[in-house]
Amino acid sequence: MNREVVVSGIRSTGYLHLGNYFGAIQNYVKMQDTHECYFFVADYHALTTHPDPKELKPNVFRVVAENIASGLDPEKVALYAQSDLIEIPELYLMLNMLAYKGELEKVPTFKDKVRMQPENVNAGLLTYPVLMAADILIHRAVKVPVGKDQEQHLEMARNFASRFNTRYGVDFFPEPQVFRFNQDTVKIMSLDGNGKMSKSENVSATIYLSDDDDTIRKKIMKAKTDQGPAEPNAAMPDYIQNLFLLLQLTATPEVTAQFTGAYNNCNIRYGDMKKQLAEDMVTFVRPIRERAAELQRDEDAIRKILKAGAEKARASSAATIAGARKLIGINYY
Ligand code: ADP
Ligand code: TRP
Repeated sequence: MNREVVVSGIRSTGYLHLGNYFGAIQNYVKMQDTHECYFFVADYHALTTHPDPKELKPNVFRVVAENIASGLDPEKVALYAQSDLIEIPELYLMLNMLAYKGELEKVPTFKDKVRMQPENVNAGLLTYPVLMAADILIHRAVKVPVGKDQEQHLEMARNFASRFNTRYGVDFFPEPQVFRFNQDTVKIMSLDGNGKMSKSENVSATIYLSDDDDTIRKKIMKAKTDQGPAEPNAAMPDYIQNLFLLLQLTATPEVTAQFTGAYNNCNIRYGDMKKQLAEDMVTFVRPIRERAAELQRDEDAIRKILKAGAEKARASSAATIAGARKLIGINYY
């Protein structure tokens, strides 16, 4: 059976959190039975911010363990490290010849980084979308499950694919699309109401898959709320909406309906709601945390998974590079 090809990656830049889980990993798990899936740890992308060499391996191994603990099955998908697929840097080099300085400088994530780390505006940051396009096009993927923040990068991947096709006169690369199950991509906000949950910002307002029970309880009890609605059926501020979203993702439908009803009738007690959410979140995170910790104790097992994943992925990446070399004219022997 010919299954649609799916690719996605997570950078090894820190501890995974609820945003990564509900925005990305949960969708990976849903696709693993129906699609040809390639999921990888984007360790080259992590190098753009110059991480300490000692931290690279534990970070990569943790991302692998947390993905598996969340339900990803390495027997069903190819789960690998980006740096293990030597064809990716070759395609990155080829695509760099079709990417223009002007368009790369305009990418919002690049502009953010220039603002955030003016002392380290390296060429790898500028060409981040080219490397990401290589990650995707190396398997000639059609679907890419990612959060909303990645849409612009996907648009660039489509541009590079079609530019390559036009230059060499064949439909070699399909144009990959962002994939989401429902109409909207999930976006989990930080618990203090400031922006999205992310790996390294707002540590105390981010719930990590590695947080212990009491840390989860404390973080949720400190989440931003207010006096409550002043009139029945009032619109929710985004930070309240975020708490209801988390409740909906982890509690029973009855519990969610009960608190939604209380909100609409103006008799909601946020303290009670947070206590309930804290317990549901503890129940949700605990098995993932425990399984991930257990997996991380067995480094040999993780190494084997990464090796097998890279081998599985190499069949398609080698075929793509062979085809691309031929089209470009690197065809000497
Ligand atoms: P981070 O931004 O935390 O460093 P990554 O950039 O490695 O995470 O993103 C990995 C995946 O998780 C991407 O598909 C991204 O869209 C998704 N993601 C990250 N943060 C969130 C969030 N707060 N809500 C929903 N999805 C998210
Ligand atoms: N840029 C993505 C992020 O920050 C991670 C990533 C790298 C990726 N290569 C990819 C995601 C290829 C999907 C496909 O989240």
